[in-house]
Amino acid sequence: MKVCVVGLGYIGLPTALSLAANGVNTVGVDLNKNMVEKLQQGVLTFQEDGLDGLFAKALENGIRFTTQVEQADCYIVAVPTPYDSVTHKVDPVYIINAVKSVLAVCGDNAVVVVESTIPPGTIDTHVRPIVNGRVRLVHAPERIIPGNMLFELAHNARVIGADDEETGLFVKQIYQSFCKGDIVITDIRTAEMSKVVENTYRDINIAFANELARICRAGGMDVHKIIEVANMHPRVNILQPGPGVGGHCISVDPWFLVGDYPNESRLIHTARCVNDSMPDHVLTRIREVMAEENITDFKEIGLYGLSYKEDVDDLRESPTLALIERLKAAGISGVRVFDPMIETNAVDNQVYDFNAFLSGLKMVVVLVSHSHIKQNADKLRGLTVLDTRHVVFGPNVHRL
Ligand SMILES: NC(=O)c1ccc[n+]([C@@H]2O[C@H](COP(=O)([O-])OP(=O)(O)OC[C@H]3O[C@@H](n4cnc5c(N)ncnc54)[C@H](O)[C@@H]3O)[C@@H](O)[C@H]2O)c1
Repeated sequence: MKVCVVGLGYIGLPTALSLAANGVNTVGVDLNKNMVEKLQQGVLTFQEDGLDGLFAKALENGIRFTTQVEQADCYIVAVPTPYDSVTHKVDPVYIINAVKSVLAVCGDNAVVVVESTIPPGTIDTHVRPIVNGRVRLVHAPERIIPGNMLFELAHNARVIGADDEETGLFVKQIYQSFCKGDIVITDIRTAEMSKVVENTYRDINIAFANELARICRAGGMDVHKIIEVANMHPRVNILQPGPGVGGHCISVDPWFLVGDYPNESRLIHTARCVNDSMPDHVLTRIREVMAEENITDFKEIGLYGLSYKEDVDDLRESPTLALIERLKAAGISGVRVFDPMIETNAVDNQVYDFNAFLSGLKMVVVLVSHSHIKQNADKLRGLTVLDTRHVVFGPNVHRL
């Protein structure tokens, strides 16, 4: 049994390593030559807790990395699935190209598992026609959260959508090599929809929390206390407000439903707009806090956190990047930026040392709740803080 994982990004790489570390003959394929060369040299391409140990075990078990798709019994496709910013429909080009590259080398009856997140109907509309019955198609969406990927890969429940039970069971066996969670077999369209629904549910819940934050600000109430109390109700579970929603999943997947079902998805669309407007709200709050604290120069302000969430180095759809765009559009320059997880040069005025970042600042805007800021909150003492994540406490701390 040989598995070929196509696409070695945030999802494909940990999946390939988990398979290999658990004894499955695995080859990892990516178009990105630099990435493949790094992996061949034993260098990881992104940071994630525990990934280096898993990498070592996978290498010991003989995992290989290449830019060419090889013959295998099963292919796991984990390539990007962006949405078109005008139509909001999925852009299936990466999936189509990846499946075509598999078809060029695979034997008849191989199994092709699409792990990428796709809206319901994508396999039928975009993949089945090019496959033309030559391989067995499966959709097994990934649900892991960056920052806790390895635990979740091993313990989350999974769904496998297949055309017949035999194929579903075949793929289930492969995932069971590393996944101890429940694995449900269903049809492909149900699997496609369930994944999109999960992320849409979270987006709406966060939008609700963000709207509550605005209501509470307008009404002089403490949104965090209110959510804490409300969540003591056994059937209430409100998520936390923040500076916006980023990442490759929650801020993207709801658009698929808006794009395909515009007349039926008013709530989903509104939630997206609420979350996308949060960087504007943060900018309003920055101006308000500056006025309250008599801070007049934006050069005395620092933004803490660039990644889209805590303890990851992923910048995709990051609310901080959106805020920086808003600052630029308003003609504001010179705001300093620091993120302990980001070592590459991502934005103007980025500083790589925390003490150098703080030096001369009057105000820090906390945009990401990295463990680092929780451990270093005392260094913010004496400064004005606008904490959008509710992780810093003290007399000069302002909230959303
Ligand atoms: N990142 C997450 O937290 C997460 C969680 C669950 C699901 N997903 C979904 O998983 C999918 C992949 O996401 P990701 O975050 O791993 O993306 P990514 O951008 O990190 O990685 C995708 C990789 O695929 C490669 N690639 C593209 N086309 C290829 C091809 N034809 N052949 C070989 N390699 C190719 C790219 O070079 C890239 O390295 C997306 O559909 C995403 O929505 C992501």
